[in-house]
Amino acid sequence: MAETIADLRELPRAVAYAELSEQINLVLEGIDDPVCGMATIAALVHGALGFLWTGFYRVVEPGKLMRVGPYQGSLGCLEIAFGKGVCGTAAAQRRAVIVDDVDLFPGHIACDARARSEIVVPVFNRTGDLMAVLDIDSDTPSAFNEEDQAGLETIVRWFQRTA
Ligand code: SME
Repeated sequence: MAETIADLRELPRAVAYAELSEQINLVLEGIDDPVCGMATIAALVHGALGFLWTGFYRVVEPGKLMRVGPYQGSLGCLEIAFGKGVCGTAAAQRRAVIVDDVDLFPGHIACDARARSEIVVPVFNRTGDLMAVLDIDSDTPSAFNEEDQAGLETIVRWFQRTA
């Protein structure tokens, strides 16, 4: 296994996600432990794309509450209620949310004052239950687009092998 994580920031985003996806599936071959998957995916995506914060909020009370899971970056908020902030909105609506300017998003939860834009994608398990969201924050406005959404949605399909 490579000792360092390749910097994929110079590649077209779709190519970077395709490489990341392949790497994730290789590294996690034979594993179906969700925490192991979250930690590995957070490390690989964060290392490759270098955003401010990359990590997971896990559903601990379905429809009500998420708690922070494995992540990379500065200190994250510990708990987010469904419907609150960008993560809680993505969880409540079970869909990806892209925010170009977090200051214009009502109820945005500012864990890191440097965050300017954000993408959150829902994570589903084997039975189609929402088990977590993947949240990536950037210190640049409008850092994320549909290519990021498609790439990250592909990556989190890994969790469809978990219970
Ligand atoms: N910005 C998020 C909160 C989580 S963190 O920034 C790590 C939100 O509004 O959902």
